[in-house]
Amino acid sequence: MKTREFGVTGRRVPVIGQGTWNFPATKSEIESARKALRTGVEHGMTHIDTAEMYGNGASEEIIGNAIYDLPRRNLFIVSKVLPSNASKKGTIAACERSLKRLGTDYLDCYLLHWRGSFPLSETIEALEKLIDDGKILSLGVSNFDVDDLQEALKFASKPLACNQILYNLHTRGPERNIIPFCEQRKIAVVGYTPFAQKTPFAVWYRRW
Ligand SMILES: NC(=O)c1ccc[n+]([C@@H]2O[C@H](COP(=O)([O-])OP(=O)(O)OC[C@H]3O[C@@H](n4cnc5c(N)ncnc54)[C@H](OP(=O)(O)O)[C@@H]3O)[C@@H](O)[C@H]2O)c1
Repeated sequence: MKTREFGVTGRRVPVIGQGTWNFPATKSEIESARKALRTGVEHGMTHIDTAEMYGNGASEEIIGNAIYDLPRRNLFIVSKVLPSNASKKGTIAACERSLKRLGTDYLDCYLLHWRGSFPLSETIEALEKLIDDGKILSLGVSNFDVDDLQEALKFASKPLACNQILYNLHTRGPERNIIPFCEQRKIAVVGYTPFAQKTPFAVWYRRW
């Protein structure tokens, strides 16, 4: 599996991550998702992306069940706080709930899922406290435009490790501003929805 440095963290991380947004609901489907995740990890796909939002915590629980006996240091686990929880206290509490569901002591990177109504300064302060407390190794954001990134950088005293954004062959706008801005500052760009979900483009791409 090809790896790349994850921004300022300097960690080499597989360039293809295992996304866990659309987790199934039935018992047998959950078991098959757990096995799929584990098989992925065994084949080098050790970068796992989740969020408290996914299945309202269920995604994190399934990941926890899939990885509980694997060497933690080999995994790169990313989760995200919902904007509605992203106050100073709320971010810390959300992270602690995520850690519990995942059955781990720390996250490799923790992101603000998208901008909401809590001041960015408050969320960043909480993320930095989580680093100081050893609960996360790095902090990041998601769905941030250049303006949002500039604002975040103003408040942050620790480096921003990543910006997770919508990026695929159909949505290449980030190539104009966001990606160059991030590259200049060593912020890892993680593209989500690489197959563009069920849009006509995805159908075309699959036929092709
Ligand atoms: N930060 C954020 O705001 C955010 C937002 C969205 C997603 N994410 C992350 O990114 C991950 C991936 O996102 P996504 O589910 O939206 O990704 P996606 O690129 O849309 O991938 C899933 C879709 O791709 C289709 N697909 C799978 N293999 C394919 C292939 N070989 N050729 C063509 N199509 C194929 C699947 O179809 P079938 O259903 O038929 O298998 C499914 O509809 C999520 O799980 C999550 O971790 C983050």
